[in-house]
Amino acid sequence: MFETCTARLALFYMSCGMRLYVSGGNSGIGKETAVALALRGARVIIACRDEEKARKAVKEIKARSHSMNVLHMEVDLANMRSIREFCKTFLQKEKRLDILINNAGVPSVLDWTDDNFSMCFGVNHLGHFLLTNLLLLRLKESSPSRVLNLTCSSYKYQKLDFKDLNYNLFPFFTYCRSKLANIYFTQELARMMEGKGVTAYAIHPGYVQSSWTCHYSILYRIFAQVVMFMFFISCEAGAQAVVYCAVSDEVLPHSGGYFADCRPAPLRAFARDSGVAKKLWEASERLVKLA
Ligand SMILES: NC(=O)c1ccc[n+]([C@@H]2O[C@H](COP(=O)([O-])OP(=O)(O)OC[C@H]3O[C@@H](n4cnc5c(N)ncnc54)[C@H](OP(=O)(O)O)[C@@H]3O)[C@@H](O)[C@H]2O)c1
Repeated sequence: MFETCTARLALFYMSCGMRLYVSGGNSGIGKETAVALALRGARVIIACRDEEKARKAVKEIKARSHSMNVLHMEVDLANMRSIREFCKTFLQKEKRLDILINNAGVPSVLDWTDDNFSMCFGVNHLGHFLLTNLLLLRLKESSPSRVLNLTCSSYKYQKLDFKDLNYNLFPFFTYCRSKLANIYFTQELARMMEGKGVTAYAIHPGYVQSSWTCHYSILYRIFAQVVMFMFFISCEAGAQAVVYCAVSDEVLPHSGGYFADCRPAPLRAFARDSGVAKKLWEASERLVKLA
């Protein structure tokens, strides 16, 4: 996969002055994406919840990309107030937003956000849903612009239950549902933005040796590290899929689509249901008090 993506990416550079925002850019796939896009000349803003980790990451991204145009802003996606404050500051400070990368995510954990949403659904879907909506005007003003949502091929193991969107029973299933929500969100966003110069893509980056195991007990962590070492790709390789959707014009006809391995990939029929996508959008609007 790394070779395929790298070959396809070799020709693409960003025009100077492109501005992009990456959530969760302090580690894993997000950090590698930030490095790759800063190298291509973009102004990169990583949004993180931990000031110290963010500073360290900015220093590293600057050093590796030889770009000084990298900064961080604070946001906790598990807290709706923090997201609203972040967006207010962002809109005051940044006059352009060309690419929004909704990368941050929590793996299979059973926990609750500050607003009493299940952690996976709250951070992975609702947090990014609210943030994207609050920045949508800036994306439209900066068109052509793109929204990239990191999802996972494990979306296929679950369906959404509208009677219990906050499902928080089996950790892996909560994660799968949140990643399915990312796909529906991408489809509905693309539909709503048709003709408005904003396109959206859902990306499965592959199975990646990132830092998601830090959420688990020491025993599980050791087991997972061994599995990751044997079967998973590096963060740099995982980021290629994201960078491809950020910079390649080949993706433009596929707005709303699901990408894996740097190409449009088929989805299970239930994940292509536009009625469900619309219903989730409306439910999410109510939950984050947007409407
Ligand atoms: N790794 C894989 O195999 C894989 C496979 C498919 C899809 N994905 C998706 O790829 C994306 C990136 O994951 P990764 O593997 O790079 O994981 P990672 O290394 O654990 O990075 C996750 C990032 O999200 C941030 N984050 C978590 N909760 C947050 C919150 N409440 N507010 C703000 N930031 C928050 C983390 O910040 P902290 O450092 O502060 O925790 C971290 O920067 C995720 O959406 C994941 O679902 C990953």
